[in-house]
Amino acid sequence: MAPAPRDHRPGRAQRPAAARATSVARRPARGLQSAGHPPEPARGLQSAASPSLHPLPRWLRVGALGLALVLGTLAWRWASRRWSLPCPAWLAWVLEGDLADRLTGTATTLDRLGLAPGLRVLEVGPGPGRLAIPAARRVLPHGAVVGIDIQPAMLDRLRARAAAAGVTNLTALHGDARDLPLASEQFDLVFFCTVLGEVPDREQALREAYRVLKPGGRLSVTEIMPDPHYQSAATVTRLAEIAGFRPERRLGRWHFYTASFRKDPGAPAAPRPAD
Ligand SMILES: C[S@@+](CC[C@H](N)C(=O)[O-])C[C@H]1O[C@@H](n2cnc3c(N)ncnc32)[C@H](O)[C@@H]1O
Repeated sequence: MAPAPRDHRPGRAQRPAAARATSVARRPARGLQSAGHPPEPARGLQSAASPSLHPLPRWLRVGALGLALVLGTLAWRWASRRWSLPCPAWLAWVLEGDLADRLTGTATTLDRLGLAPGLRVLEVGPGPGRLAIPAARRVLPHGAVVGIDIQPAMLDRLRARAAAAGVTNLTALHGDARDLPLASEQFDLVFFCTVLGEVPDREQALREAYRVLKPGGRLSVTEIMPDPHYQSAATVTRLAEIAGFRPERRLGRWHFYTASFRKDPGAPAAPRPAD
């Protein structure tokens, strides 16, 4: 029997000229190949097959990211004047722990609130309880704190953290700052910290705070830069005055301040909007 042919490819002389040219272009240079380098494609073929992917310079990438962040923040701020777009509950961890306390001045804010034993306090938008939990401790004995938040997931986090801290005089309720599910004139202090700018109708939120405060009660608003929803002291004062409050004092500088307002002791009871 005749042995099977080892190679059926046409000989060099039989192969068409175009096929010979391609195989030459694919073949690496001999010297480089023997030195262990990977085969290097021919230059002409590379530029024709794939456009060169030069990365953008680092400064341009950092600048583009910064610009996107600023534009995103401005868009969120603008949209929050129309729709309720609260700080998402999955970001609650940002407001928890020692580092968050240091960066956001938790102890300073608590000192500025003027908490005292026996006070009945409402925090609007407590989130995971960075302030509400230690505030509840400061009003003991006999005092209590209520926290009302629009996001059930934030309230779950608040309840879990209050339980873990052994705090029992804190009640977490679901509700909207614009329509508090509470009877009128029952709190000595109502406070907001980095919340007011998240409420589409800030004026209505302050009217509700006025309604649930006892005559002579105090409203406290803390704003911190760079909160995307930061409100200037001038804006907060204007809105609080429209709601019926008398400005009392302001502590801190523009980038981290606490403004206090008073509901006059002789103020007539404010009816609920639906009453
Ligand atoms: C940036 S977090 C601040 C949390 C807390 N005050 C602090 O300083 O750690 C804002 C909180 O306000 C709540 N919030 C936003 N809009 C609200 C509304 N209309 N009524 C009640 N809570 C609201 C959000 O769900 C969120 O928990």
